[in-house]
Amino acid sequence: MTAPPGLDHDPLSTPIPRRRMLLFMGAAVLASGSGLGVLLAGCAPVAPVTVTLQLNPSSMPSGMPVEVPFSMTNASGVAVQSSVWLLKATDGSLTAYDPRCTHALCRYKWVAAEAKFRCNCHGGEFALDGAVLAGPPPRPLNRVPLKATGGVVAVDVPGDFVSPKESLGA
Ligand code: FES
Repeated sequence: MTAPPGLDHDPLSTPIPRRRMLLFMGAAVLASGSGLGVLLAGCAPVAPVTVTLQLNPSSMPSGMPVEVPFSMTNASGVAVQSSVWLLKATDGSLTAYDPRCTHALCRYKWVAAEAKFRCNCHGGEFALDGAVLAGPPPRPLNRVPLKATGGVVAVDVPGDFVSPKESLGA
């Protein structure tokens, strides 16, 4: 084969030295490995943040949810002011609900006169047990894991938690 004009050899027919080939292969392996590591790190679950609530459950009525505010710093370093809905059953057991509607993360409220939660963003409604009653929410209210010991309640808020969007209207 003849060399292109201006070159004294044909680069396509010149063998690549073994050392250079090994360097190329090593760089490719490292690049794909670090790329995979970055990809896997992006998929890793974010550890929850434990928040102690400023409320003694002995002072709560049973069967009536109470909104308990809290502040935290999430895993991204963002300061969050939010709340959980805490519900005490007649047997004294507690349930904590994520304050964000499962449709589009708006803040919802308890409507005591109708004994249900309502989200004013798109009309979503939830029963006391979190089940969907009406509107577009695709699933029941999310529960937040909690521990209650000696009158102190702590909840495990998702590490990537962000505040709910404000509903339109009251
Ligand atoms: S965000 Fe609650 S109904 Fe849409």
